[in-house]
Amino acid sequence: MGVLRGLRARLQSEVLGQEEALSALCDALLAGEMGHASPGRPRSLLLLLGPTGTGKTRSILAASEHLFGTGSVARINAAEFSSDERVPLLLGTPGAAGLLGERVARMRRSGGRILLLDEIEKASPRVADLLLGIEEAEVMMQDGSALDLSGLHVVATSNLGGAGVAGLEGVSRASVRRYVEQEAAAHFRPEVFARFTSVIVFAHLSRDAQVRVCHRMLGRELALQSAALSSAFGHPHRLRADPDVPGLLVSEGWHRSLGARPMRNVVERRVRSALVRARLDGALGPGVGESVLVAAAGGGLRAAVARAPVVLRGGPGEVAA
Ligand SMILES: Nc1ncnc2c1ncn2[C@@H]1O[C@H](COP(=O)(O)OP(=O)(O)OP(=O)(O)O)[C@@H](O)[C@H]1O
Ligand SMILES: [Mg+2]
Repeated sequence: MGVLRGLRARLQSEVLGQEEALSALCDALLAGEMGHASPGRPRSLLLLLGPTGTGKTRSILAASEHLFGTGSVARINAAEFSSDERVPLLLGTPGAAGLLGERVARMRRSGGRILLLDEIEKASPRVADLLLGIEEAEVMMQDGSALDLSGLHVVATSNLGGAGVAGLEGVSRASVRRYVEQEAAAHFRPEVFARFTSVIVFAHLSRDAQVRVCHRMLGRELALQSAALSSAFGHPHRLRADPDVPGLLVSEGWHRSLGARPMRNVVERRVRSALVRARLDGALGPGVGESVLVAAAGGGLRAAVARAPVVLRGGPGEVAA
């Protein structure tokens, strides 16, 4: 019960600014895990909607890791099966198992229970049609066999309608939700759309939420790079950032309609370029136990070795270390 109880906190610690969606996701997953799903059906059949880069895929990966362990999810990138010619690779052909069957079998062996159909709107309609058989927890494979999905959570994600959400700022959450659901309902055949037991809408990420995301990403990046520097130098090294660094990263990485995706790239690129340059310049090397990243007046990053500060310049596009 402890693991189940901890799911909400785990998701909220990884995916920020999505309290409502995470709460609905948790309830749906936990209902299945605690035995409240209808017998003979999948434990849950969920559709996660919302703009790109808002945490849909991330939250499923985190939920699966929390509940069933690292690498436990069976993930199908449905966008890879956009043409009908590629569908047999997913569903198999007489004599050859498809990717779907293989991934589900591997997941069951590893103790996982979540099948993730990512970006389902980009797939051939024949992929979404798989869901027609799902109330019996079976999908028909192309060799005529049935793939048993009983006991699993089946989660599809899509950013259908998501692009329009950024333009709906100031509109109530309920109206945004209705808009996104309508866009999704118009895409799928009605009998397919009706199969989902929960439709969960992820919100557009506000600037405030993206600032928090930036702090989180920077913290992880600093930990990663501290370990990399310690390993390169052969002794412990701690990389930290001055409080003004997130502001610089947010101003470059915040994006109204691409969510947190650009932020991640900016954080990684800026910090890594800064370190590469500092090391090539000889400003950062073995023998130093701590260094610090500082936002410079010109808009770049200034990296200072705690023992012997070095100022390095750069503007947007030209990273300084
Ligand atoms: N709400 C959030 N809180 C923290 N990190 C986030 C959030 N949303 C997105 N991210 C980060 O941004 C990246 C992209 O997120 P994710 O893959 O979950 O997006 P998505 O909603 O599935 O987008 P798409 O519709 O394009 O597939 C990940 O690195 C993730 O960690
Ligand atoms: Mg995704």
